[in-house]
Parts: sequence; C-alpha cells; structure tokens
Amino acid sequence: MVFVSFVVVLLIAVSVAAVAPAGPWDAFNLASSTRGVTPKSVRLTVGQVTGAENLIGNTMSTKGATIAGNGSYVVLDFGQEVGGRLSIQIDSATSSSALSLSFTESPLFISPTTSDDSCVASFLEDSDGVLSLPPLTSNETYTQTVGDQRGGFRFLTIVSNGEEPVTISNIVLNITFMPQLEDLRAYTGYFFATDTTGFHDPEFLTKLWYSGAYTVQMNTIDSHQARQQPCPVGGGWANNATGGPVEGTILVDAAKRDRNIWPGDMGISTHTELVSTFDLQSSQNSLLVMFSTQDPTTGALQYSGPPINAVGSDTYICWSLIGTHNVYLYTGDLNFVEQVWANYTFALSFLQSQVDETGLMNVPVSFSNDWGRVDGQGHNSAANALLYQTLITASELATTLGHTSLAAEYVTNASSIKEAYNKLLWNETAGMFMDNDMVYNVNPQDGNSLAVLFNLTNNGSQIQSISEGLTQFWTDIGPLSPELNDTIIPFVGGFELQAHFIAGQGKRALDLLHREWGYMLYTNISVQSTMLEGFTANGSLGYRSAAGADFDHSFTSNAHGWATGPTFSLIFYLVGLMVTSSQGATWSVAPVLSGLTAAQGGFETNLGWFGANWTFTDKTTFRLDPFERMVELEALEQHPGKSLGTGVPVSSGVDHAG
Ligand SMILES: *[C@@H]1O[C@H](CO)[C@@H](O)[C@H](O)[C@H]1NC(C)=O
Ligand SMILES: *[C@@H]1O[C@H](CO)[C@@H](O)[C@H](O)[C@H]1NC(C)=O
Ligand SMILES: *[C@@H]1O[C@H](CO)[C@@H](O)[C@H](O)[C@H]1NC(C)=O
Ligand SMILES: *[C@@H]1O[C@H](CO)[C@@H](O)[C@H](O)[C@H]1NC(C)=O
Ligand SMILES: *[C@@H]1O[C@H](CO)[C@@H](O)[C@H](O)[C@H]1NC(C)=O
Ligand SMILES: *[C@@H]1O[C@H](CO)[C@@H](O)[C@H](O)[C@H]1NC(C)=O
Ligand SMILES: *[C@@H]1O[C@H](CO)[C@@H](O)[C@H](O)[C@H]1NC(C)=O
Ligand SMILES: *[C@@H]1O[C@H](CO)[C@@H](O)[C@H](O)[C@H]1NC(C)=O
Ligand SMILES: *[C@@H]1O[C@H](CO)[C@@H](O)[C@H](O)[C@H]1NC(C)=O
Ligand SMILES: *[C@@H]1O[C@H](CO)[C@@H](O)[C@H](O)[C@H]1NC(C)=O
Ligand SMILES: *[C@@H]1O[C@H](CO)[C@@H](O)[C@H](O)[C@H]1NC(C)=O
Ligand SMILES: *[C@@H]1O[C@H](CO)[C@@H](O)[C@H](O)[C@H]1NC(C)=O
Repeated sequence: MVFVSFVVVLLIAVSVAAVAPAGPWDAFNLASSTRGVTPKSVRLTVGQVTGAENLIGNTMSTKGATIAGNGSYVVLDFGQEVGGRLSIQIDSATSSSALSLSFTESPLFISPTTSDDSCVASFLEDSDGVLSLPPLTSNETYTQTVGDQRGGFRFLTIVSNGEEPVTISNIVLNITFMPQLEDLRAYTGYFFATDTTGFHDPEFLTKLWYSGAYTVQMNTIDSHQARQQPCPVGGGWANNATGGPVEGTILVDAAKRDRNIWPGDMGISTHTELVSTFDLQSSQNSLLVMFSTQDPTTGALQYSGPPINAVGSDTYICWSLIGTHNVYLYTGDLNFVEQVWANYTFALSFLQSQVDETGLMNVPVSFSNDWGRVDGQGHNSAANALLYQTLITASELATTLGHTSLAAEYVTNASSIKEAYNKLLWNETAGMFMDNDMVYNVNPQDGNSLAVLFNLTNNGSQIQSISEGLTQFWTDIGPLSPELNDTIIPFVGGFELQAHFIAGQGKRALDLLHREWGYMLYTNISVQSTMLEGFTANGSLGYRSAAGADFDHSFTSNAHGWATGPTFSLIFYLVGLMVTSSQGATWSVAPVLSGLTAAQGGFETNLGWFGANWTFTDKTTFRLDPFERMVELEALEQHPGKSLGTGVPVSSGVDHAG
C-alpha cells in the first residue's frame, strides 16, 4: 500500500466547459477538422484510367480523371475508416456512360463488383453489391442520398460500366456521424503515454486510445440513419431507417452495420463516450429506445433496438439496466432515471422471476441469446454476474430516488446471488468460475472476467487466480475464449482487460493489449484505424463465422464500439482516475503503473474537468484538475521504500462537493 498526501497548490473558482488540453496527443486524433473529407491516395487503377491522382485531396481541382471502357476502375483510399454521403462531380459523360461504386473497410474486399456486406451475411460475400449511379449528366454533381450512404469504409472503387468514357472530379465525402458536434476533433478527454515496455510501437497506447474514441464517435448517428431491416429486395443497402422513437443521436453498435442499438455493446462504448466526447446524450437516447419497446406483459426488454428488434437475451436486458446506472453516474440526470423507473423495475422483476431455488437465475433457452458466446442458458455465470451488478446498481439508484427499503431488498437479493455464485460455480482446483453447474471444465472468459469486474469474488486470491487462469486462453493475437469456438472477441476482451487491471496485474493487461489490440491496429488486412468486431484464431476477419455469419468475412465490422474497452480502461486504471459517485462528486486515483514510466489523461463531466498526470522516475506526481483546481500529490518522496508497481489504490477524495 502506498498512501499519498494532498497538497493544494492552486485554486481557480471558475468552471469552464472545456476541451482537453492541447498537446502531442492531438496528432493521434483521427477525427477530421472538416465535415468534407477527400481521398488521400490512389490504391489501384485497372483498365483505362487517366488522371486518377486528380481525385486526391484538393476538392477545387478543375482537372478530373477519365475512366474509359466497360469494367475499368479506380480504387481510392481515404487513409482511414470514414463514413457519410459521397459527392462526385461529373465533368463529362454521355448517355452511353455509366458508373457504379463499391465500398469496403478492409483492403481484402476491394472489388469492382461487390461492396462489403452490410445487410445480409452471405457465403459468397456479394449481398451488398455495387451502387449504380443514376444516368449521368455532364457538369452536374452526383450526391448520395441518406439511404445510399455508407456508414463505414476506407476504400472506394469507382467503376465504368458503359461504353463511353466518363470524366469525374471533386470527390468529397460529407461525414454524417456525430452530427451534433461542430468540431469533430473537440474531444473533452485525452490520453497520452509512451509505451516503454519494448513493444514495437512506442506510440501504441496513445494510438489505441484515439482509435477507440474515433470508433465510438463513428457509432454515434442521427436516429433516422439506422440500417433498414429487412434489407432492400434484390441486394444493396439502405441507411435511412429510424432507430427508435427518439430525435437526435443514438449510440449504435457499429458504423457499417448494424447501425442499430445493442445495449450490451454499450457496456463498453458508453464508458468510451465519457472519456472522449462526453456525449452521454446518445447513450441516454439509446436506452430510452430500449425501454420504449418493453414487453408490457412480461417486462422483458428487447435484445436490440428497432428496426432489428431482436428479442430473447437476459444478458442484454441486464446491460440496459446497468447502462441506465452508467448514464446516471456520468450525467447525474435523475429525471432520466425517474422517467424510465417503472419500466426499469418491471424489467428487473422479469429477470428475478428466473431466479430459482439455487439462488441463481436459471436462464431459459429462449432468453439465452448473447454475442460473445453460445450456450448461455441455465445457471450461466456471465448472466448471473450481470444480474448481480444490475441489482447492486439498482440499489444505488433506488437509494438516490429515496426508495430505501427497495434498495435494501435489491442488496439482499444481490448477496444471495453472490453466495450461490461462489457455492455453485467456483472451482477451487481450477481457480476459476465454471460456465454453469451442468457442464464440466468450461471456465469462460466472460463469466470470469465479469466476476472480477463486478465483484462476485469473495477474496483477493480468487481475483489473482482468475487473472492468471484467463491467460491459458491466450494466443499471440488474443484470447480464444472457450465459450465461442474459433473466435477472438474484443468485446469480452474489454472485460478481461479490466479484470487484469483490477487484479493489479498491469503488465499482464498491457500484454493483452499488445496481443489483441495490437493485432487489430497493425494487421494490414483490417482497416488499420478503428476497432474490429472480432476475428478468428488464425487472424482472419471472421466473426461468429460458424455461428450466424455464414463465413462472410466482409460482413465483419471494422468499427465496432464494443472493442473500445482500452480507451476508458487506460483512463480508469492506468492513469487511474475514476468517478465513484454521480458526475465525479467523489472520485479515486489508483493508477496501475504497469511497467510504464509516465501516463496522463483526463475527461470532463458537468462538474468540471478531471485530469491526472504521473511520472515514475525519481518521484511520482499526480495532478487533478476539477473545476480548474489543481491538486498535486507527491508520493514516492515520502515513501521511498514503497513501490506502486502492483497498483494499489493510492488516493480518493471528495473534490466536487459544491
Ligand atoms: C454536408 O451535409 C450537410 C447536410 O446535408 C450540409 O448542410 C453540409 O453543407 C454538407 N457539407 C459538405 C462539406 O458537403
Ligand atoms: C461543362 O462545362 C464546361 C466548362 O464550363 C463546358 O466547356 C462544357 O461545354 C459543359 N458541358 C456541358 C455538356 O454542358
Ligand atoms: C431509403 O433509402 C433507400 C436506398 O437509398 C431508398 O430506396 C428508399 O426510398 C429510402 N426510403 C425513404 C423512406 O426515403
Ligand atoms: C459490361 O460488361 C458486363 C460484364 O462483362 C456486361 O454484362 C455488360 O453488358 C457490359 N456493358 C456494356 C454497356 O457493354
Ligand atoms: C414503458 O414500456 C411501455 C410498454 O410496455 C411503453 O409504452 C412506454 O413508452 C415505456 N416507457 C418509457 C419511459 O420508455
Ligand atoms: C428478491 O428476490 C425474490 C426471490 O427471487 C423476489 O421474489 C423479490 O421480488 C426480489 N425483490 C425485489 C425487490 O425485486
Ligand atoms: C474443476 O477443475 C479441475 C481442474 O481443472 C477439473 O479437473 C474438474 O473437472 C473441474 N470440475 C468441474 C465440476 O468442472
Ligand atoms: C465487494 O463486495 C463485498 C460484499 O460481498 C463488499 O464488502 C465490498 O465492499 C465490495 N467491493 C467493492 C470494491 O465494491
Ligand atoms: C476465497 O473464496 C473462495 C470462494 O468462496 C473459497 O473457496 C476460497 O477458500 C477463498 N480463499 C481464501 C484464501 O480465503
Ligand atoms: C472450431 O472451429 C474450427 C475452425 O473453424 C473448426 O475446424 C472446428 O471444427 C470447430 N470446432 C467445433 C467444436 O465446432
Ligand atoms: C500485407 O502485408 C503482406 C506482407 O508485407 C503482403 O504480402 C500482403 O499483400 C499485404 N496485404 C494487403 C491486403 O495489403
Ligand atoms: C504531465 O507531466 C509531464 C512531466 O512532468 C509534463 O511534461 C507534462 O506537461 C504534464 N502534462 C500536463 C497536461 O500538464
């Protein structure tokens, strides 16, 4: 244990809603400074294409590119994942000219005849096809409709399908995500740390942080720009569906697809919102959508929002309820909680009606759906860990609303789940929790990670053995979880990452980052800018290939908010700054140094700005800047014999009382 003393150095009373401080980290921010972005380079030309380089950069170019001959094409690279509505100026064309467009995130699926699949997974990887432009008119600008827009891509292929040449110029993509933010780069949070552990890229952690922030930004969309379901008859896609009965923006699962609310994904992406743009309104809107479609008879919430309207997942019902607490924790918006409270408690009753005589929820097959796994039925460990956390956070909300006896009942029920969880599912020999009490020798990545994250453990030795036990699933590119064959799932990886940090195993946490997220960020088969939905043991882009996705690797999303666990984990655990009550009225600083020599970062809430900055050389300094108030903590000087290496809590406080 290391205890530090606070020294108040400076006090400025004014609170200013502020963007993060400027610094070298800004170079890693992937967001564009303008809504109109242009291609960065020519990837490839095939057939008769002249002047392709005129399509790069300068949107005022008067010279165009000419594509001649049926089947000739040019592939343009936007340099990173982007999404929006494309405009192309048609400089000259005849009635015998024709153009089509195809879009892909990964370079593997560049093709003049198909886009990535974003609507239907198909073994032939050809369900989206191309977007054929309407008849071309010289000196007119073609602009994609809202429905035709691509929410996520990096490579654009422009194909001539006619006999006569066509000359085009001024290709501009009008970014549609996060429409409410005037300056897309105006993040309220930041992070910076040099990876001094010997990893090949010393900027890895900072890149990763901004990659996650940008991924979630891309998942923030106008509520009327969700993906249509069912998909258009005869192929293609349409991104003009209504994602729920709310106006403004919603937080969805991904940029390309599904562009739909999935509350489990928000168990990661809402925290990323806090530390990057502080746009909790989108999470709140998405949760309002989930409550609005509650089954009025049973109280069950849906698995996803409209138009997909999936049903049948206890885990995702838990996530909607946990998400409600997350939004309250970060915004302090009690009106929102009151607005949904009747539906919230009804949904919680629905879940608790499945608790049987063992003390655990016995998940029926019809509510066993989940994404990172199969076989979620029965006394499933992940589902019960989630119900425990739901009850603990429900009790906090009930207390805040003044329902003290209800709050106490929720705590009592939570305690009996925790007791049964340890009694029925803990395997002392394995040093891990079992997946359920029916199947032997499956010690899941999700149930064990969530058990640590949500405090289902009774003692520190369980935490240590789970953290160590989880490494048995590791490959060079991430954990192959036992609960879903041949799939590495960054969603669950985000919970495992937190479990290692909570165990104080910072070096192990960084090792996991290097393997799993390092693979995603650097492999040249991915979009190399935003985060993947999942991949397989051999690194190919398959996600749930044999369990729903028909081995369609072009269907896998390359900008999936559920893969952004590192973005907030680096703030909460490595920088070490967490809010412990609404809006950060109380907070803690407990950095897990993880073998690094320095880290810094921060974020904003309505109470002010929070930041911490430590270096670990001859001394350790922590700064906190709430309300522009700087608190400097000097640590190791006073405790030269102590080490912060295992990341024990060093401090907590109340700084936002007034
Ligand atoms: C992008 O689209 C919006 C909404 O249609 C429009 O107001 C804006 O001018 C467009 N910006 C660019 C750069 O095309
Ligand atoms: C298109 O504009 C150019 C330049 O202003 C002009 O020379 C050309 O005649 C126009 N073409 C048509 C079909 O209007
Ligand atoms: C939605 O977009 C599709 C594809 O662009 C289009 O066919 C359809 O008419 C649009 N629907 C509405 C209601 O605008
Ligand atoms: C272009 O080529 C495709 C494929 O070979 C063919 O189906 C199509 O009819 C051709 N179009 C024209 C205008 O020749
Ligand atoms: C609560 O659920 C009902 C359907 O059971 C729905 O009509 C209502 O809008 C929901 N309330 C809120 C605040 O979402
Ligand atoms: C606590 O659990 C019992 C048994 O599952 C259930 O009947 C009761 O409604 C729960 N209490 C609350 C407040 O939900
Ligand atoms: C508990 O773990 C041990 C060691 O891995 C294993 O042999 C045993 O079968 C496990 N028990 C159950 C019920 O899974
Ligand atoms: C974990 O749960 C125990 C009760 O089982 C409680 O005493 C302890 O405070 C909890 N720890 C945290 C960090 O919430
Ligand atoms: C920790 O808790 C587990 C599960 O309740 C128990 O089996 C184990 O004996 C405990 N270990 C210690 C060291 O208290
Ligand atoms: C797991 O996936 C691999 C690779 O696709 C496959 O060869 C194997 O048969 C699968 N195993 C099971 C049990 O489905
Ligand atoms: C990825 O890099 C390897 C090795 O340099 C190269 O052979 C391969 O063609 C590249 N793949 C793509 C899709 O660029
Ligand atoms: C954090 O501390 C380092 C080392 O003392 C210093 O160079 C840097 O400017 C500090 N960052 C901020 C935002 O104050």
